[in-house]
Amino acid sequence: MDVAVFSSKPYDRTFLAAAAAGQHRLTFLEPRLTAQTAVLAQGAAAACVFVNDQVNAAALATLQGLGVRLVALRAAGYNNVDLGAAQRLGIAVAHVPAYSPDAVAEHALAMILALNRNIHRAWLRVREANFALEGLLGFNMRGRSVGIIGTGRIGAALARIMLGLGCRVMAHDPVPDPDLAVPYLPLEEVLATADILSLHCPLTPRTRHLIDAAAIARMKRGVMLINTSRGAIVDTPAVIAGLKSGAIGHLGLDVYEEEAGLFFEDMSDELIRDDVFARLLTFPNVLVTGHQGFFTTEALTAIAATTMANITAFEATGRPLHAVGA
Ligand code: NAI
Repeated sequence: MDVAVFSSKPYDRTFLAAAAAGQHRLTFLEPRLTAQTAVLAQGAAAACVFVNDQVNAAALATLQGLGVRLVALRAAGYNNVDLGAAQRLGIAVAHVPAYSPDAVAEHALAMILALNRNIHRAWLRVREANFALEGLLGFNMRGRSVGIIGTGRIGAALARIMLGLGCRVMAHDPVPDPDLAVPYLPLEEVLATADILSLHCPLTPRTRHLIDAAAIARMKRGVMLINTSRGAIVDTPAVIAGLKSGAIGHLGLDVYEEEAGLFFEDMSDELIRDDVFARLLTFPNVLVTGHQGFFTTEALTAIAATTMANITAFEATGRPLHAVGA
């Protein structure tokens, strides 16, 4: 099948070409998919997209006009796809439901430990021969309360890691996991009791700005908040206010509501025009990574394999292996 691969980076080429094994003809395109760039899919029957591609009604209409019949996400989350429009246009949508939950869970762990022990600050200090410890005080993880919002594949993986560290883990999820030996509590209770809160629910109309000023007001003073899920689950200006007042003691973000124009690109020669994002970077107790939770060899191998399996199944049966519907 001819596949137009949008937002492709050198690492995508390496892993996708290996997984395609000559079975599909991949055209690697650097631009993100938007209504304007959709024409680049000319000649392709499938468009392969990532998290910040704008798979909106206009882009889908152009894709359909070109003969594209499948949108294959090389990601788990599909909040950037207008599923209703895809259905109306007869375009199938596929995703990669579970490629490596451990990759993201372990990144959340890395953020928690780095923030707690101020590794990001220590690294800078030691390079300047500053071996003073003031400002680097951390806390033991054993016995701390960790609240996990969303215990799907990633949240459950993190819950198990935190149990291994001796933390007291509690969770909130409308669909509890019976195999996960942690108490499930109402959201308010998790917010009020956790020393560390980690977000692992998908972005939906219900979870958009789940963490807003009212939610922050319920949290323990000095809470550590980690978001490796989707940026818009957090109301960033509310979180900045929480950091300024001390309500939030540590913040770890792998995702950001307005990341689409920033992340995955080298912006070091540009001015950052997003003042909210720029403000976040000024706090010593904030650690931001550019959506790299998925970025392990194992995860990229699995993403590429499932993406190709979706395309192969669609070519053979008219249905991808892992379809998502409106
Ligand atoms: P999943 O579908 O296995 O689990 C999501 C869980 O959230 C489900 O158990 C669901 O019941 C729960 N949930 C839904 N609404 C909720 C609510 N209002 N409150 C609490 N829980 C709620 O998804 P998975 O694989 O664990 O991924 C979670 C999210 O992580 C994805 O939606 C995606 O946005 C994000 N992600 C981030 C990556 C990164 O690189 N930073 C990579 C992969 C995923």
